[in-house]
Amino acid sequence: PQKGIGNRKKILVLSCTLTLVFLFSDGHLTVLTDPAPVIARLGTSVHLNCLFEVGKPQIELASLAVQWFFNGQKVAEFNDKLHIYSPGVAISEQGLKDGNASLVLTDVHIAHEGDYVCKVFYTLDKTERITLKVKAPPRLSVPDPLVTENKASELICNVDGYYPELISVWWIRDGVLQHGSQHKTTRRNEDGTFNTTSMYTLTPIDKDKNISYACRV
Ligand SMILES: *[C@@H]1O[C@H](CO)[C@@H](O)[C@H](O)[C@H]1NC(C)=O
Ligand SMILES: *[C@@H]1O[C@H](CO)[C@@H](O)[C@H](O)[C@H]1NC(C)=O
Ligand SMILES: *[C@@H]1O[C@H](CO)[C@@H](O)[C@H](O)[C@H]1NC(C)=O
Repeated sequence: PQKGIGNRKKILVLSCTLTLVFLFSDGHLTVLTDPAPVIARLGTSVHLNCLFEVGKPQIELASLAVQWFFNGQKVAEFNDKLHIYSPGVAISEQGLKDGNASLVLTDVHIAHEGDYVCKVFYTLDKTERITLKVKAPPRLSVPDPLVTENKASELICNVDGYYPELISVWWIRDGVLQHGSQHKTTRRNEDGTFNTTSMYTLTPIDKDKNISYACRV
């Protein structure tokens, strides 16, 4: 309600003119501001709307930057944290999480009249991650076994210098995979590779002569 000329003089016109929208390839950013000039009464507080959507339910503050300009001068900014360069203006950090970058002028002065620009930047984190996996093939060696007929003996297979640690050692008797009677110990080398010694226990009897044993990883 306006009562007369005297009061009308105290009405300021704050025009919040434009919004720059930065659209990145995989982001959908839309920004909404007040279309017409914003009218504020001297001495009151006013908020200049700048609402944005990023096309996702969650707004990542780490991907967000907001800048407010007044007549070409930066007055407030959010970039990791909030920076206020001009007294009497504010942005709500909580509001940013909800897509509200509105600028609040707490005590409107004549000097506040002019053009306000809200710029919103939203980029997805472009950090690329590369995982390097190192492989080292095992070196196999089988020391000559010393076996005595009818006595429990051990066949040894050394599997050395391999990486990563997970490995399976199989014993094969005459082309047939053997189960049981084997155990292994694994040691770590200084260079990060591993040595495994696999031991296969057998009690050779006469028919085992000329039978070939092999270890396979
Ligand atoms: C945006 O934030 C301003 C200031 O914090 C508040 O006055 C206004 O109501 C908010 N707008 C919406 C749509 O939430
Ligand atoms: C692993 O095996 C190599 C031989 O291939 C040997 O020189 C080295 O000492 C062994 N490492 C361990 C920790 O036993
Ligand atoms: C052992 O095998 C070799 C070749 O496979 C054969 O020539 C030899 O006669 C065999 N010896 C015995 C004792 O069976």
